[in-house]
Amino acid sequence: MQLAEITYVPELPNDVIQDATYEIAANKALVVGNSHRFFNKYPAKYIPHIPRWAISKYLGPEDDGILDPFCGSGTTLVEGMLQGKNGYGIDVDPFARLLTKVKTRPFSSVELRTLDRTVLAIRNRIEQSVPITIELPPIPDITKWFREDIIDKLIKIKQLIIAETGGEGVIFDYLSIVLAGIIRKVSNAENGSPKPYISTRFPKDPQDPYLYFFKIQELYREALGQFSHEIFNQTNFGLQRVVPDIKLVGTDARDFVLDKKIKLAVTSPPYINAFDYVRSLKFENLWLGLADPDDLLEIRRQHVGTESLGERGRNDNLTEVFNIPSLDSAIYELRESDSKRASIVTAFFEDMRKNLGRVYNALDDNGTYVIVIGDSLIRGVEIPTADILASMGNEFGFKLELKFQYVIRDRYLHIPRGGKGGLIKLDRIIVLRK
Ligand SMILES: C[S@@+](CC[C@H](N)C(=O)[O-])C[C@H]1O[C@@H](n2cnc3c(N)ncnc32)[C@H](O)[C@@H]1O
Repeated sequence: MQLAEITYVPELPNDVIQDATYEIAANKALVVGNSHRFFNKYPAKYIPHIPRWAISKYLGPEDDGILDPFCGSGTTLVEGMLQGKNGYGIDVDPFARLLTKVKTRPFSSVELRTLDRTVLAIRNRIEQSVPITIELPPIPDITKWFREDIIDKLIKIKQLIIAETGGEGVIFDYLSIVLAGIIRKVSNAENGSPKPYISTRFPKDPQDPYLYFFKIQELYREALGQFSHEIFNQTNFGLQRVVPDIKLVGTDARDFVLDKKIKLAVTSPPYINAFDYVRSLKFENLWLGLADPDDLLEIRRQHVGTESLGERGRNDNLTEVFNIPSLDSAIYELRESDSKRASIVTAFFEDMRKNLGRVYNALDDNGTYVIVIGDSLIRGVEIPTADILASMGNEFGFKLELKFQYVIRDRYLHIPRGGKGGLIKLDRIIVLRK
């Protein structure tokens, strides 16, 4: 791929140039200064600069209402709140929904004080012997993934969180996210790899759950304080006196209805066949009791871009014709070499077509849908995903208003895929107008 020229910017400019390539010099302070800091290893999350740009460009001061149908860790919705906007989120993953709920819930000063007292109570009881009354999470081969002394400590933390909060409410939710934030580091699995796996060559020395829990709690607590301060300050002094409200309105981006029309949707859907979110978030979901292994199998089938096609996979050769030449020819070519991949690509675009239709219906006349996605290279076949989605949008009446791209710089925040080693990884941004 030839890259014409990269423009380096601290933030995307309001008047981005059609087809230009930007590189955003990530300002860490803006990334970690608020609740974006919670569980910052959420797989394939995007940098907040992208939704921040879209919201300030496409929503005027009087406009309200943002939707992110693949909300993941809630980046879009947090950015919306910071600009005083209400929002709706949808995600198929239960952990993603809890994370979004917690990240978009500022605490009043009374709640912050109650939280601090709760944490202190847990700290005081952590070394005391407590009879364990809750069950182990249903993790197959649990002792392969976690040392036994670590399992005991995790269970005790979980039990104390429940005991000190009654097992519900905003403090319980927040502390559950803190617990999720330590799971990978205290497991035997590699810290950095998206899918949990145990390296035999470099065995890991896991963190101590007690020390690490309180350390992560302090980090998140600072972020929560800062986020709450920003939100309440903005709403007290600005024209709008109400704290922005984020609603989680569904679990499937292919099938949802909103109770009112919105002006803007901003999202980054999964890439095709690239990332097994279910496996990478398995321990968090199971430890928090948000799902059991059977639920996870079912959830995987509902994922856009999934390899586990379920019923649809039985028909090994999904033969949809999309009437989009670049897509139809890519599927045709793939089918020659790898019919399973051809079916995965077909299912991905069928699903995204449903999503485009739903978002179209949810938008106001003249509303905007901003999609961030990278192109894919599958078995040597190039899939220009962004251009295909723009063409597909036309079927519903969307018009492509703008497209440009940015260099994925922070590999830690966004697991890059698609190109081959050596290629610069790009995400494409398409702006569709209803
Ligand atoms: C690229 S990630 C989004 C990351 C998000 N922009 C962030 O910053 O955290 C894609 C998300 O789509 C979700 N997803 C996959 N299939 C879905 C479906 N059918 N409905 C809703 N969400 C889905 C995944 O769980 C994942 O969280």
